[in-house]
Amino acid sequence: MYKKPVIVFEGIEGSGKTFHINNVSKYLKKNRIKFIRIREPGGTQNSEKIRKLILNKKSKFNENSDLLLYLASRSENIEFLKKNYKKKVILIDRFTDSTIAYQHYGLGVKLSIINHLNKYLLGNFKIDFTFLNIVNQKNMIKRLKQRKKLNRYDKFKKKFYDKVQKGYLKIAKNSKKYQIVNSNLNIELNKKFVIKKLEKLIR
Ligand code: TMP
Repeated sequence: MYKKPVIVFEGIEGSGKTFHINNVSKYLKKNRIKFIRIREPGGTQNSEKIRKLILNKKSKFNENSDLLLYLASRSENIEFLKKNYKKKVILIDRFTDSTIAYQHYGLGVKLSIINHLNKYLLGNFKIDFTFLNIVNQKNMIKRLKQRKKLNRYDKFKKKFYDKVQKGYLKIAKNSKKYQIVNSNLNIELNKKFVIKKLEKLIR
């Protein structure tokens, strides 16, 4: 038997979080370990509809509307997440910390409102572990340039991402439930490092 933790992958644009969640999914599949994987915003059918609306380049929402749309997308996912809670390993590409990092540290929405709404939505659903991927500006810009499609949030100023990443680091500080993955370092070594940690989380 293996454990069924909830594992979240966080980080700013170009930080490599999706790369690692892909690799972890591959590992779980290969080892026949049951898991579900979602991304936020998006993940389930209704939530994907909200994703399109939020991230569309032509959309222009104020920061409160943005917050409520991200939470609406989460609200559509939570039933599915709770249904699988502790029955399968759960991998989430961005979750509640994205809201704190982007909407609070990046855009200045009051933290207490975000915490309150997240708590209201999540109830007893708890994150067990978070991989926080970090990247320097040079590499972030390089990686964003390689993307075919940029969304509304890919086009913020560099200073904004700096604030968001610093916010993430504040959230993770002194917590054993976070592992920082420095994506400026060798990708193969990072890959092994993440899988090793994953093995500890599920065994
Ligand atoms: P991604 O799926 O390509 O990472 O893009 C999603 C964007 O949405 C990313 O810029 C971060 C942003 N976001 C928030 O601002 N708040 C949130 O709560 C979530 C889940 C994402």
